[in-house]
Amino acid sequence: MRRAVLHIIPAENNFLEKKNDTENDTENDMAPPQTNWAQVVWRKNDTPYAPAYDDGYFGETDPAAEAHHVFCKGLALPDAWKTFFEDKTTFRIVELGFGTGLNFLQTAQLWQKWQEKWQEKTQNEGTVENKPLLDYWGIEAHPLRVKDLQHFYRRHEVCGAGNLLQAWKGLPTSVANNPRLPLRKHTLRWEFAPSIRLTLLLQDVERALASIVATLAHEVDGWYCDGFAPRSNPAMWSDKVFAALAYCTRARTSFPQLASFSVAKSVRTRANAYGFHTRKRKGWCAKREVLQGFFRGNLTPPVNSTQSSTQQA
Ligand SMILES: C[S@@+](CC[C@H](N)C(=O)[O-])C[C@H]1O[C@@H](n2cnc3c(N)ncnc32)[C@H](O)[C@@H]1O
Repeated sequence: MRRAVLHIIPAENNFLEKKNDTENDTENDMAPPQTNWAQVVWRKNDTPYAPAYDDGYFGETDPAAEAHHVFCKGLALPDAWKTFFEDKTTFRIVELGFGTGLNFLQTAQLWQKWQEKWQEKTQNEGTVENKPLLDYWGIEAHPLRVKDLQHFYRRHEVCGAGNLLQAWKGLPTSVANNPRLPLRKHTLRWEFAPSIRLTLLLQDVERALASIVATLAHEVDGWYCDGFAPRSNPAMWSDKVFAALAYCTRARTSFPQLASFSVAKSVRTRANAYGFHTRKRKGWCAKREVLQGFFRGNLTPPVNSTQSSTQQA
């Protein structure tokens, strides 16, 4: 099989438009956990583990296959793309917990293979003008250091890793340990080939989601919820988080819009409360079950409070 090649073209300005800059130096109304480099230790098979959260980034067996199974298949990719582009041009995924970027690379690889087929099909049908874009957003409060990313991808050979590393080397060191940088300085964007765009929000999940709510209302097609276990990291699974997810999800009925490694009752209850019909599916290796969610809700915009901020229509 031909390896997909991903080219990184740094966006002209590595930030979103000023109008999306919801943060300024005086604002401090949200809990401000720092953006700082991840501290990881290495477990079996060179898989990263975060002592601060007492949790691993993946299982130790085969991280790439796990990412594919839990997340890509969790959103029913690539099947979900088959009919999607009949009337749309951009498929948007937001990942909560970008980590090593492995979920992104697995998705990008799948996308490129699918793209080739799609182009062939549309060319044969004479409908080439529709050029689909994969618009991938990653939220990450603790980016891995380059040396850690290199360590991981030396052992786990994944298509596109070299390009991701190249992009990573451009991460501003000023981002780390400086939670008060304006949003646009926390936001980096790359074009991966003409049909894949990666936007990274190097911020705490709540802050990042606040800008996603301002920018992408009802425009997100899939969520990868990958923020460690809720017992050790409840911030990634809060009411505010699910309220933002619900508000930004594009209503669709046929394919799942949420994929998660965690099937914890607290996660299911909250997802259900915010309009996601959840279903457990077969897990990966020692993990018996993983989760997918189908959005059935229609929610009012989240505001700055939690429980009372949304109501189901
Ligand atoms: C299980 S790992 C994600 C693995 C990742 N999806 C990958 O492909 O490598 C969880 C990630 O969530 C990030 N994280 C934890 N708490 C966060 C928060 N409050 N805001 C944003 N990111 C957070 C961690 O730094 C870590 O990278």
